[in-house]
Amino acid sequence: MKDAKLIIWGCGGMGREIAALCEILGRDVIGFLDERIEMHGQIIDDVPVLGDIADIAKYRHEAEIICSGVGEPALKRKFVRKTREAGLQIASPLIHPSVHVPPSSRIGVSSILCAGTIISINVNIGNFVIVNTNVTLAHDVSISDYCTISPGVNISGNVTVEEGAFIGTGSAIREKVSIGAWSMVGGGSFVKNDVPPQVLYAGVPAVYKKTRAWPHNESPCDKQ
Ligand SMILES: CC(C)(COP(=O)(O)OP(=O)(O)OC[C@H]1O[C@@H](n2cnc3c(N)ncnc32)[C@H](O)[C@@H]1OP(=O)(O)O)[C@@H](O)C(=O)NCCC(=O)NCCS
Repeated sequence: MKDAKLIIWGCGGMGREIAALCEILGRDVIGFLDERIEMHGQIIDDVPVLGDIADIAKYRHEAEIICSGVGEPALKRKFVRKTREAGLQIASPLIHPSVHVPPSSRIGVSSILCAGTIISINVNIGNFVIVNTNVTLAHDVSISDYCTISPGVNISGNVTVEEGAFIGTGSAIREKVSIGAWSMVGGGSFVKNDVPPQVLYAGVPAVYKKTRAWPHNESPCDKQ
């Protein structure tokens, strides 16, 4: 579907920012999706909240779905599963006009690249990834599906960010480090050693703080 109309999962801060990005890109947004019943029917920033996935079947042939309208990686994963189960089309990536993507780099479906981000060479960004404002991704960085990279993060060369990791605002990651799947790096941290899966690391330098629980009943052990 070329330049299909768009529906955005999540009507909070991230979803609203994506709606604003769509306006910059000249893309039509039909509405938001949200699981919270109390949000259904509301108008947010002039955009209606259409309901949950079952409420938008009539848009099947005219709209694509952006599944990255929330920062929480596990919630994005849940939205992707619901969208696929409903047989709806997932949207292509949305890239702010200020962002240059070199030909050697790749951006996956429904990923969002916000204003001011710098993408170096041979950067691999998976599906359903948020790269928020003013992020730097150096050469040969790899970011897997569902990750969220918060504003002002600097990721050095050859860093690997595994599936579902969340990097907090203003953090910096040293070269060649690996951030484990579904882990979180607290805001303002400097990560100089590998981070294991499913933990919170934070501080300067970042150290182990705790093991992460699975929000939204979305353990990655569940089948997609
Ligand atoms: C990590 C964060 C999400 C808190 O998560 P949480 O599960 O509520 O963690 P807690 O508050 O229980 O903190 C656990 C421990 O980590 C420490 N910690 C949490 N965040 C920290 C940070 N950014 N830097 C240093 N230490 C931090 C806490 O002090 C606590 O330490 P203690 O056990 O020694 O007392 C939050 O502190 C943070 O960094 N948020 C940034 C989010 C962000 O970037 N959002 C961008 C939106 S666009």
